[in-house]
Amino acid sequence: MALHDKFGRAITDLRISITDRCNYKCVYCRTGNEGALYGDLPFSDYLRMARVLVGMGITKVRLTGGEPLLRNSVVEFVRELAKLRPQGLKPPSSTSGNGAAEAAPFQSSFREIGEPLDIALTTNGHLLAEMAQPLKDAGLTRVTVSMDAVDPDRFARITRVPNGYDHVLAGIRAARRAGLWPLKVNCVLMRGFNEDQIIPFGMFAREEGVTVRFIEFMPLEEGRTWAPSTVVTLDEILARMAEYRPLVEIPHARSETARRYRFEDGVGEIGIIAPVSHPFCGHCSRIRITSDGKIRTCLFSVWDHDLHAQMRRGASDEELADFIHGVVAKKEERHHIGEPDFVPASRTMVHIGG
Ligand code: GTP
Ligand code: 5AD
Repeated sequence: MALHDKFGRAITDLRISITDRCNYKCVYCRTGNEGALYGDLPFSDYLRMARVLVGMGITKVRLTGGEPLLRNSVVEFVRELAKLRPQGLKPPSSTSGNGAAEAAPFQSSFREIGEPLDIALTTNGHLLAEMAQPLKDAGLTRVTVSMDAVDPDRFARITRVPNGYDHVLAGIRAARRAGLWPLKVNCVLMRGFNEDQIIPFGMFAREEGVTVRFIEFMPLEEGRTWAPSTVVTLDEILARMAEYRPLVEIPHARSETARRYRFEDGVGEIGIIAPVSHPFCGHCSRIRITSDGKIRTCLFSVWDHDLHAQMRRGASDEELADFIHGVVAKKEERHHIGEPDFVPASRTMVHIGG
């Protein structure tokens, strides 16, 4: 029984924030305070939530933060997640015989039914160089690195961390070497800070062989600095990039956040995520679990739903699934950014996970 909301959208993507701590203090996200507001849970709790949700039709799990690589044992968590099979298919039980002998029938029936779980991670990349290969070996499929300038000084001013740029670049290269693919780089553009980085990022995409995705700045920051004038829009990004090299739009999946473009000569791809000027809520396939175990049905939700409280009171998997069905039924139709009736989300981005 697949998960659908009342607008007929299939919910197939789960994002789990595994901590709301972050070692960066990006000016468009944080006010600079150190602390995690909500804290986090043992990995066994996230794993149970993921298992129930994968049994309900989730095919993609993205780990977010704060900064997810700050959590000890994230590699082991990925290894456990990778054992989950979409639509509730389970690997053979290790107690019922020889594992090697059982692997073959499981694999063949699995191939008929579908792909393995897609496990992705969004990170600031600071700790990625060391962790890329172990994460890949544990079963991580791919990674998205947040990076808002390709100039080390500008990068330091935005992140408010000295010498981060070299770490992040090393992380991106290590991820590519490890085969974490496709490798995406997210760049949030904010007027007055980094809109001059558009063309340098176009060059970066071509040189490093990564997909650079520009994101329109959304009102989800701690400092409440957002205004319509701070948003660098899709149209502006395209116009600026066209001054560098011609682009050709390429088709994208319906539920994908980004519009995709390749350079006309075939070298390099960029994407634009335009939730402000071109909202994509009509095709939303996502729900989120926060680091403290609440379900959020939209980035801009003004409330969340306490899944972990259900677990604490001893709910069975079936009761958790019923609770999730009830929550998904309340998923918001769309966000209201820039409209007179806009109400700020009940959490800022660092406490949701992107
Ligand atoms: P893949 O398609 O698996 O690569 O996932 P993704 O594109 O969702 O990846 P990513 O985590 O990099 O998301 C990109 C960014 O898009 C996020 O960081 C948000 O800024 C934005 N975004 C993601 N989901 C939503 C959403 O539901 N609503 C809005 N308004 N923005 C979103
Ligand atoms: N608007 C758009 N994107 C944001 N991100 C963080 N804050 C915002 C915002 N206010 C991005 C991060 C990261 C992802 C999780 O979301 O840069 O790539």
